[in-house]
Amino acid sequence: MIFLDLVRRRQSVRQYLSRPVERDKVERCLEAARLAPSASNAQPWRFVVADDPALVRGLGRAGYNRFTREVPAFAAVIREPGKAVSRLGGWLAGRDYRLIDLGIAAEHFCLQAAEEGLGTCLLGLFNQRRVKKLLGVPPGRRVQILIALGYPADSQIREKRRKDLDRMRSYNRYGG
Ligand SMILES: Cc1cc2nc3c(=O)[nH]c(=O)nc-3n(C[C@H](O)[C@H](O)[C@H](O)COP(=O)(O)O)c2cc1C
Repeated sequence: MIFLDLVRRRQSVRQYLSRPVERDKVERCLEAARLAPSASNAQPWRFVVADDPALVRGLGRAGYNRFTREVPAFAAVIREPGKAVSRLGGWLAGRDYRLIDLGIAAEHFCLQAAEEGLGTCLLGLFNQRRVKKLLGVPPGRRVQILIALGYPADSQIREKRRKDLDRMRSYNRYGG
């Protein structure tokens, strides 16, 4: 697929078929995430894919959006301690690069899912404690984002609601 077409096809899907997601497709999404860039190549992530129906039901109830109760699978993106050097660099710069790294990896996952004909929805709103417990995530880690995953109930691609290019870019100097 032409890259920009793929980017346009990726959209937040909030209604899914009950059809299970094949693991070979999930593996390619994970491979896309694995190849994502990260500060100091620290790769401060782990992915836990939940496709066991009882577990998925539990995770669905740990979300604050109703639609998550009808999602066939989830991928949890977990923030790991990462490398001391990138944590130090981030601390000196006053930011946690791991959040950027995880965001990029999560989007790689979602774009590959779109390529596979799967729908995704990034979920920032969920009960951290419940999700960690359900997935057996050890202390010191954080489930940064959940990705709802499955076959979309509706194949229509919505028009993207985004700022115009004129409101987001300039060359050589801020604003314009
Ligand atoms: C960090 C992050 C957290 C998000 N959390 C939620 C969420 O909790 N619930 C939800 O329905 N959508 C969530 N979204 C999806 C956004 O609402 C969505 O990406 C945005 O509205 C643009 O729409 P599109 O993805 O269909 O292009 C999240 C997206 C991001 C990047």
